[in-house]
Amino acid sequence: MTQVSPLILQARAAGERAYCPYSDFHVGAAVETDIGIFEGCNVENASYSLTICAERVALFHAIAHGAKQFLRLAVSCVSALETDPPESRTPCGACRQVIAELLPPNALVEIDGVGVWRVEELLPLAFRIPREPTPNSETES
Ligand code: THU
Repeated sequence: MTQVSPLILQARAAGERAYCPYSDFHVGAAVETDIGIFEGCNVENASYSLTICAERVALFHAIAHGAKQFLRLAVSCVSALETDPPESRTPCGACRQVIAELLPPNALVEIDGVGVWRVEELLPLAFRIPREPTPNSETES
């Protein structure tokens, strides 16, 4: 049996708490930061597009608690079957963009049952704002 990291175990536990009555697809995430580990699970809504993924809940949870440095992320699609393809366990594109914003490019993302990737491998060419915003004369007093 392969060794499972403590961060993956926390992601799995968070996934058990998912609110996912529409998909019944439980996902959990755990992020290690400068001030500790924060968990997240997917939270769905009857207005489907309001659903938020486990990865973003974990990262926003950490931000709300004052985390400044994001060191490592673990994700577990606990409802995925062993026979399901790896793509049914990996973070969606929107979450990859948020991960790329908050974690350094060489930080590791552990994906339960799939493997470990660096952030820059999960989303090459992530979008970044190219420069400081210029003051808008209409809104500046
Ligand atoms: N989901 C996540 O939590 N993370 C992902 O990266 C992909 C999808 C959730 C959203 C929805 O609640 C369910 O999985 C099915 O798409």
